[in-house]
Amino acid sequence: MTTTIIDEKYRPQFHFTPPANWMNDPNGMVYFEGEYHLFYQYHPNGTTWGPMHWGHAISQDLVHWEHMPIALKPDHNGFIFSGSVVVDWKDSSGFFDGSPGLVAIFTHADQYPNSDRPRQRQSLAYSSDKGRSWTMYENNPVLANEAHTDFRDPKVFWHEQKQHWVMVLAAGDRAQFYVSVDLKSWTFTSEFGMAEGSHEGVWECPDLIELPIEGSDSQSKWVLIVSIGDHPDYPEGSRTQYFIGEFDGMTFTNDNDADSVLWLDYGRDNYAGVTWSDVQRPDGARLFIGWMSNWKYSNLTPTQAWRSAMTLPRELRLRRTSSGIRVVQQPVPEFQVLREQVQSKQWSGVTIRPGENLLAGLKGDRYELICEFEAGLADEIGFHLRTSDTEKTVVGYQTAERKLFVSRSDSGESGFHRQFACTHDALLEPLEGRIRLHIFVDHSSIEIFANDGEVVITDQIFPDPSSVGLELYTRGGEATIHRLDFHPLQSIYAYASMPR
Ligand code: FRU
Repeated sequence: MTTTIIDEKYRPQFHFTPPANWMNDPNGMVYFEGEYHLFYQYHPNGTTWGPMHWGHAISQDLVHWEHMPIALKPDHNGFIFSGSVVVDWKDSSGFFDGSPGLVAIFTHADQYPNSDRPRQRQSLAYSSDKGRSWTMYENNPVLANEAHTDFRDPKVFWHEQKQHWVMVLAAGDRAQFYVSVDLKSWTFTSEFGMAEGSHEGVWECPDLIELPIEGSDSQSKWVLIVSIGDHPDYPEGSRTQYFIGEFDGMTFTNDNDADSVLWLDYGRDNYAGVTWSDVQRPDGARLFIGWMSNWKYSNLTPTQAWRSAMTLPRELRLRRTSSGIRVVQQPVPEFQVLREQVQSKQWSGVTIRPGENLLAGLKGDRYELICEFEAGLADEIGFHLRTSDTEKTVVGYQTAERKLFVSRSDSGESGFHRQFACTHDALLEPLEGRIRLHIFVDHSSIEIFANDGEVVITDQIFPDPSSVGLELYTRGGEATIHRLDFHPLQSIYAYASMPR
C-alpha cells in the first residue's frame, strides 16, 4: 500500500503516477505470485523525455501501488525502450534452474556506430526474485534488423497450441511476428499491416491478445492493438487503433476491410496501452492500461515535480454491436473500494428541465458518476464538471447527431499547446432509447465509459483546484434521468480517510 502523501497541484489521486519526474508508456505488465507489476518508461533525472529507464511499481489490487527501485537502466547497448515481461513457467530460457521466473523482452535503443542513425534492437533481462532485481542477458541483443530504423516495443506471449513464444513488434508502420522456443533466438514468421488501418504515424507498442465475445458462450477473436505516433498534420496526435481477426500462431489475418480503422479511444490521452501478461478474468477478459498523455504536448503539460499519469486499468472484451464486433473497455471493478459510501448520492426517475441543475450544491474534484438517461425532447444533455465561474469541462450528448462529446476548451490551463483546448466526439447509438455514462473525474483527468464501454473518451484536463462545481444540464427540452449515482472517491494515498 502506498503511504506517501502526494498532493501537489494537479496530482492525480487515484491514477498511477511516478513519485517524481517523467513517465511515458506502461511496460512489462505481468501478474506473478499474487502481484501485479507495472513497469514504465521513466526518466529519473528530469520532467521531460530523456534517457529511458524502466521504473517499477507493484500492486495487489490494481488500485494502490508500491513504488519499487528502477528495474532496468541504460547500459552499453543503449537506453531501455518499451517492451513486455512474461512468466517463463517452464524455464524455457534456462535462466532459472528449472523454476519459473520473469523475463523482460524490451528494446535497447542507441545509434549505429559512427552515425547518428537510431538503432533499435531487442534484448532480454531476467529476475528470479519476483521482479525485485534484474540481470541483463549476457548475449544481448537477441534480435536486430538493419532494414528498419523504427524496430521496437516487443510484446511476447506463449502460444499454447503451437507451443512457442510469439513476439509482436513494431517495424516502421507495420507489425511483425517472430517465434521462439527459448526467448533467446527468434524466427520471423510474418508481417501485417502494409495496406491496413491507419498509417497516419509510425506504428508503436503493438499487442496481440485473444478476447472473449460477450455473451457468446466462449467464442473469441484475436485483437491486434497498435498505437500510432503523433504527426503534425493530425490534430488528434498519438492514438491507438485495433484490428480484429484470427491468429494461427504465425500469421494475423484481419476480419475487416483493409481500410477500416477502429479506434480504441475517442479522447486524446490514451496511448501506448497494452495488456497484462499471465492474468485474465474468469471469462477471458484481459487487463489493459494506457499512458494518459499524447506526444503532441506530453512534454509541456503544466505539472511540476512529475509528468504524466496512467489511465485507470481496464478490462477488455469484445461485443457484437450494430456496427460489428468491437472492443469494449470497462474500468476494473476493484476501484469501487474507493467510493466514499456515506457521501454518495443517488437519484432515479427524475425529469430535468432546461435551466435547472440537479447537482447544484455538490462539489468534488475526484469522483465517479454513473448515469442512465433518455434524452426525450432535449437537443442536448450532459454534465459540466470541475466548474468555476470561468472553467468547465463539458461531457454532452447531442440527440439528433447521436454524438457523445467532450469539450475541454474551457477546462482550465491549456496555453501550453495550441491544440490542447479542443472538442472531440464519437457516434453513440442509444440502447432501447437510453444512454449510459460512467465517468471518472480526478485532479487532472476525465474518463468516460459510454454504453458499458462501447465508446471511451480519455482526456487530461488541468482545472484550478478550486473548480469543484458540477452541473447536469439539458437544452431544448426535458429529459429523463433513469438513474444517477455520484460517488466521491478516496485518494489512494495515506491520508485518504482523513478530513481534507
Ligand atoms: C511510444 C514510444 C515507444 C518507445 C518509447 C520510448 O510512446 O515512442 O515506441 O519504445 O515510447 O520512450
